[in-house]
Amino acid sequence: MAKFHAPEIVFGPGSLVEAAHAARRLGGHRPMLVTDPGLVESGWVDELLGHLRDAALQPVVWSGLTPNPKDHEIAAGYETYAAAGCDVLVGLGGGSVIDAAKGVAVLASNGGHILDYEGVDLVTLPIPPLVVVPSTSGTGADVSQFCIVTDTQRHTKITIIGRVLVPDVTVIDPRLLTTMPEWLNAATGLDALTHGIEAFVSLAHNPLTDHHALRAIGLVEQNLVHTIDDPAHTGHRSLMAQASLEAGLAFTNAILGATHAMSHQVGGMLDLPHGVVNGVLLPHVIRFNALGDPTPFLAIAASLGLPEARGPAPEAGEAVADAVAVLARRVGVPAGLAQLGVTEADLPRLASLTLGDACMSTNPRTASVEQVMTMFRAAL
Ligand SMILES: NC(=O)c1ccc[n+]([C@@H]2O[C@H](COP(=O)([O-])OP(=O)(O)OC[C@H]3O[C@@H](n4cnc5c(N)ncnc54)[C@H](O)[C@@H]3O)[C@@H](O)[C@H]2O)c1
Ligand SMILES: [Fe+2]
Repeated sequence: MAKFHAPEIVFGPGSLVEAAHAARRLGGHRPMLVTDPGLVESGWVDELLGHLRDAALQPVVWSGLTPNPKDHEIAAGYETYAAAGCDVLVGLGGGSVIDAAKGVAVLASNGGHILDYEGVDLVTLPIPPLVVVPSTSGTGADVSQFCIVTDTQRHTKITIIGRVLVPDVTVIDPRLLTTMPEWLNAATGLDALTHGIEAFVSLAHNPLTDHHALRAIGLVEQNLVHTIDDPAHTGHRSLMAQASLEAGLAFTNAILGATHAMSHQVGGMLDLPHGVVNGVLLPHVIRFNALGDPTPFLAIAASLGLPEARGPAPEAGEAVADAVAVLARRVGVPAGLAQLGVTEADLPRLASLTLGDACMSTNPRTASVEQVMTMFRAAL
């Protein structure tokens, strides 16, 4: 049996106006526009505010969040939502903004503290209407049933998973990608690649998710470098937006694996860009997983256009790991975690937290704390 969930998807250059129509259609009068200072500066917030007002809505802007959104920021966002009497959420931004919007939505309908909901299906009541507009390509948070929040006491990122967290509508306007700084474009493109690869090898993959995962992998390989060399080219931006979307559809249904489980610990400890950490870790996790079962890496190698797709499978696994490392370096990601501030002394704590991450349960190969340490050490 396979199940597949997805929000309503509006896709194409100029589609931003549809976010206002969607908020209205969902019954909103006073939307809370969740965003962050970078998006305000880029001008997209003003454009969306105009569309919301043209649709006879009375938006309230909340932009008090930082990348890797923090538990206390979500609590403050909910205070704003409740005090202003908002009735629909519109998130405009990257994964941090979209996750913060989901977090506020959870508190609006379920109450309590956001960390109470760590785990699977602990959010039991439906959330308020949620429209999202992703500005990176991408986390896939706009289609996913995931919400990732930084636990500021434990210095780690917690994962909340549940079907109720899938937004009602995602409005994907590739124009928004043109104002991303280059490092963010590289980081989020590698995040999308990680989603495609982890979803394809996941224990929970199925034929409905495989298709999207493989296409996402190919689209990142064919377009990410071009968006860096030729940032204004709208064709490559649209294809990266599609890669992010398809990777999101794959992983929200097939879940993820050890790369994300490890990356959440590093990102929570050092407040680093999620995609950069994934780009460093992914080749090491691929090598580890390929030692268990290298077969899925034949199809992944084919999507990447590698000759090793003809087999044997262990060589395909090695070639995929190498190709990912080459791409990550080509787009400016550091070779190791040490350059990001991780030290040998951090590894035992990072490894033990990794085993408790929800993404670990679908990794295709079981890992002991020593094996996770070994992967972290190789990635240093
Ligand atoms: N919920 C999920 O399914 C899921 C999946 C993967 C990652 N994540 C989470 O997403 C977060 C990372 O999100 P992200 O990588 O999209 O970046 P981000 O949302 O953290 O944004 C990083 C910075 O870039 C700026 N920015 C974003 N888009 C811009 C644009 N178009 N123009 C100018 N500036 C822009 C922001 O203002 C911010 O300062 C992490 O917390 C990660 O854990 C969530
Ligand atoms: Fe991710």
